[in-house]
Parts: sequence; C-alpha cells; structure tokens
Amino acid sequence: MPEAARVVAPAKVNLRLRILARQASGFHSLETIFCAVSLADTLRIRRSSQPGIRLVVEGDIEMGPLERNLAVRAAERFYREMGRSPAIRIELAKRIPAAAGLGGGSSDAAATLRALNMLHDNPFSPPALLEMGSELGSDVPFFLCGSPLALAWGRGERLLALAPLPARSVLIVHPGLGMRTADAFRRIAEGRTEDHRSPAFVMDRESLAEWDSIAHLAENNFEPVARELVPRFSEIRRGLIERGAEIAMLAGSGSCAFGVFASRERRDAASAHFADRGFPIWEAETLDSSPEPVLR
Ligand code: C5P
Repeated sequence: MPEAARVVAPAKVNLRLRILARQASGFHSLETIFCAVSLADTLRIRRSSQPGIRLVVEGDIEMGPLERNLAVRAAERFYREMGRSPAIRIELAKRIPAAAGLGGGSSDAAATLRALNMLHDNPFSPPALLEMGSELGSDVPFFLCGSPLALAWGRGERLLALAPLPARSVLIVHPGLGMRTADAFRRIAEGRTEDHRSPAFVMDRESLAEWDSIAHLAENNFEPVARELVPRFSEIRRGLIERGAEIAMLAGSGSCAFGVFASRERRDAASAHFADRGFPIWEAETLDSSPEPVLR
C-alpha cells in the first residue's frame, strides 16, 4: 500500500467570465473559460498513525481558520463518503494567494480528492469525485476535469473540456488587497434588476481553439466591481496592456489582474515594470496538461 501521495494544485484564471441570471438558490449562473497556470500549491498527503486529519501549512500566505480549509474539508468529505475514519497528515506548501480570484482553495480541494482516491486505490469513479467536488466549491470541478482548459457553465460544475492551447507566458499582479467572492457577487446582484437577462450569444468552436480568437472572447463581468473596490485595478490592467499583454483582465472574482503575453520577453519586461513599482507579482505559464498525483 502506498504511504503518501504528492500532488501539484495549480491556480486558474478565467479567460472569460460572464455572470448570467441569478438562480432561485441565490447562486448565479456563469459562462466561463477556465485556464490552469503553473503558479501552484503542492500537497503531500501521508497516512498517519494518529487518527484525524492534520494540516501543516508552509508558506507565509494569509489563510483562514484551519477547519475551514478546503483541503481539510475535501478530506473530511472523502472519508465520510467512504465510511472510514481518517488518519492522515496533509502538508500544504501554499503559494497561491487567497481572495485573489485564482482558485487556490478549490484547487487544493480537488488535489486532495484525487490524491486520496489514488492512495486508497480508487474507491470512487471520476463522476463520484466530481459530485463531491462540486459541493465543496464552484471551481473544484474544473480542477477535477482532467484538462487545463475548459468552457464551463451552471455554477461552473458543467464543463466542456477543451483541447489545451500552446503554453503562453502569464503575469499575475496583486493590487495589495483581496476581494471576497461573496462580496463581489453581492455587488453584481445589487446593480441588477430581478428580471436581468443576458443577451443571446453564439460562441463558435473555432474561437476556442486559438489564443488570437480566445482574446476576442476575453471579458469579465466582475471588472466594474473591481474598478470600484480595488483602487489600483485600472492602473494595473492599463499597465499590462501598455506592456503588450494580448489579454489583460481581472482573475475570477478578483482581486488579482493577469496578462497573457505572446512572448516570454514581453512578459518579463512587464514583470520588471510592476516589480519596480512594488506590486507583488507571480510569473507563470498556462498549462498544456493537468498535473497527476504521484504515489510514494
Ligand atoms: O463559491 P463560493 O463559496 O466562494 O461563493 C461565495 C458566495 O458567492 C456564495 O455564497 C454566493 O452568495 C455567491 N456566488 C454566487 N454565484 C456563484 C458563486 C458564488 O452568487 N456562481
């Protein structure tokens, strides 16, 4: 029996994020294109002689209370579904900033589900894992879908896995403060009437197969909220465009902005610009495959 699994949990950006109607549940329907990037947390999950789930976090990233941690909640859910008591230790090397729109917590949850399933010799089918994941968080199904690029709708739990695009250089810029998803959605709801309708729209298949055409679909309905709540968002977005980003937008529900560049040189020049001005930045590449857990 393997004793441990190591798994890389990548961040994501949304290359398109349209917020459609509010559902009766209070959640909003989305139309979004998820793209995984190489900025990542790493999890090591080991069997332990002690009962329970122990989480050890490395990295100086602001985190909420441990019992709310999505890796822990994913492990609790997994063992509850399996009908067994857990005895594991999760070592989480945290690099993805929280409340940044990069899906770090969801990615940790998905990575935990995949690693535990492997450690226990796959008691759950992919659809069963997906169901567990979708109850943990809206971005979890994407991180379970096996592709680094996907079109998603519903709350993000219905996905069309797309053929990955060639890797592109990405720069992620943090504006200095976070934005909570719930607050961002509340602002959207406040700014709309009850009978809000989105215009009819046809997305053609070819437009999802190339960076140039995806750039035409790039928009994020949270940007007006970010412009209001994140003082430096507009300045960052403009700076990314001026330095040659082909796509420059808000990451998810914010607060980070990101740029996708046609060359590493352009990205590096943009990195230098933002680093000189004191912004926390992360350089990454878009992923052309999904990382798999490795058993030890
Ligand atoms: O997914 P997460 O738990 O971060 O969502 C926080 C809150 O954001 C939800 O409780 C809901 O009010 C709002 N939300 C929404 N529509 C979504 C996702 C989240 O209205 N698709």
